[in-house]
Amino acid sequence: MGKVFVFDHPLIQHKLAYIRDINTGTKEFRELVDEVASLMAFEITRDMPLEEVEIQTPVSTAKVKMLSGKKVGIVPILRAGIGMVDGIIKLIPAAKVGHVGLYRDPETLKPVEYYAKMPSDLAERECIVVDPMLATGGSAIEAIHSIKKRGAVNIKFMCLIAAPEGVDALKEAHPDVDIYIAGLDEKLNEHGYIVPGLGDAGDRLFGTK
Ligand code: PRP
Ligand code: URA
Repeated sequence: MGKVFVFDHPLIQHKLAYIRDINTGTKEFRELVDEVASLMAFEITRDMPLEEVEIQTPVSTAKVKMLSGKKVGIVPILRAGIGMVDGIIKLIPAAKVGHVGLYRDPETLKPVEYYAKMPSDLAERECIVVDPMLATGGSAIEAIHSIKKRGAVNIKFMCLIAAPEGVDALKEAHPDVDIYIAGLDEKLNEHGYIVPGLGDAGDRLFGTK
């Protein structure tokens, strides 16, 4: 079964508090999502493999550790997932980015795929699927099905806020996927919104309504 990690780092929690706040405007919301995505990427890459290499310092040779070159693919779920991409790329600049477009039908709450474009070598990459919200879990489950169909085998899911219902559904549908969360909330309301959550992540990021 996939593991669930809730990041309790004080900086992540502090910034998440501002992200949740209804008084935080679009510009600041975007900046904060970007910053939290970077901080989460720092934590999520903890298990990246290192290799020993020899370099020359100004003083002597040295055996040092560098990333062993494992390739990363970032897969934002459109559209709100886009808000997390730059923050991750700041730390992993060589990562390639695949996009999967899904919207949640407001009546059925079921995800509908409208776009998918992936790096060709998805199977060789450690794929990080990103979306600020894991609510019913439908979008994340569908996005992960979509990238598995295209060859992905090594997958992590990263979100800002999750509802317990979404975590359970995602674990059940994709037991091979570890889940990384900044805030694990109480529940979903009758409209499928996370409580207390942050509202509609896409609308808050892009200033739509
Ligand atoms: C939001 C959010 C997730 C999804 C989560 O997207 O960004 O993708 O809902 O809900 P779920 O876990 O119940 O599937 P939305 O469908 O509002 O689309 P948007 O990103 O285009 O605003
Ligand atoms: N999508 C959002 O943007 N917010 C929620 O609370 C649930 C789904």
